[in-house]
Amino acid sequence: MKLGTFIAGFAAAVMMTGSAMAQQAPIVIKFSHVVAPDTPKGKGAEFFKKLAEERTKGKVKVEVYPSSQLYKDKEEMEALQLGAVQMLAPSLAKFGPLGVKEFEVFDLPFIFPSKDVLRSVTEGGVGRGMLKKLETKGIIGLAYWDNGFKIMSANKPLKTPDDFKGVKMRIQSSKVLDAQMRALGALPQVMAFSEVYQALQTGVVDGTENPPSNMFTQKMHEVQKHATISNHGYLGYAVIVNKKFWEGLPADIRATLEGAMNEATAFANSIAQTENDDALKAMKAAGKTEFYTLTADEAAAWRKALLPVHQDMEKRVGKDLIDAFYKESAKFGFKN
Ligand code: LMR
Repeated sequence: MKLGTFIAGFAAAVMMTGSAMAQQAPIVIKFSHVVAPDTPKGKGAEFFKKLAEERTKGKVKVEVYPSSQLYKDKEEMEALQLGAVQMLAPSLAKFGPLGVKEFEVFDLPFIFPSKDVLRSVTEGGVGRGMLKKLETKGIIGLAYWDNGFKIMSANKPLKTPDDFKGVKMRIQSSKVLDAQMRALGALPQVMAFSEVYQALQTGVVDGTENPPSNMFTQKMHEVQKHATISNHGYLGYAVIVNKKFWEGLPADIRATLEGAMNEATAFANSIAQTENDDALKAMKAAGKTEFYTLTADEAAAWRKALLPVHQDMEKRVGKDLIDAFYKESAKFGFKN
């Protein structure tokens, strides 16, 4: 064999091995989130991982990092844009700092008179239009995942709006939530989710709001004497991916992952209510927090204090968007 032929053959063999290796190396999706694995979002992420890995026959590996292991709230958004992680599911209250403040419309108190209205928004044109807005930020919105409706907690009973006067309440980074707490006379304080337990324990803040699943899995009930089942607001997520990464995937892989995401979404949304019901039951059984359900009169007083926030926040989230949400309510016979 001539030396030239040998070298050419050797180079071809090396290139083939290289490309075979490249084919074998899985595409890695780092999916970072801030809640415990044992929550609607945590379980949804694990379900997506399972489907994605099975259906791509190992060509895709999904690494789920729960409990702010990799990043806290604000950092995870930056990490996604930089491509340090590929997938997140931040709460809809956390998109303001990214420059997409419209999502804070979901935080308006009593904006959803029923789950049907919520679903109609998230699965219809209004919800899709909102996800589309993320693309200018280098992000693609894949789906909406539920957590649930929030309860208020503190170390004192919170029965009437007056009870909130001067109470320091931890909130997510949403101006609408800031306005909500101020409308009650409370003192809102933005804080990363991973810091809330300690802040409640040490008295940096007096109280907070969250769906029962988050309150329970963070053990907040151990450091909150009182909680009011007010269901005054919604907490849900947008599952988002880095646009460049997503669009750079081979088309067949992307289609398979989209299918897996659709099923993971149906799964996460089907378990959210039960997860929250079970968490509430477990906290009641633990006996550390006293849970209070508002009377009809008290609920009316909360609505009276909080509904003006819709108008106050028109400039922040857009009057047209609020009206679009009201229209969804009207489809189900509700009047906002
Ligand atoms: C919070 O910060 O309270 C929640 O957004 C956490 C979460 O992701 O459910």
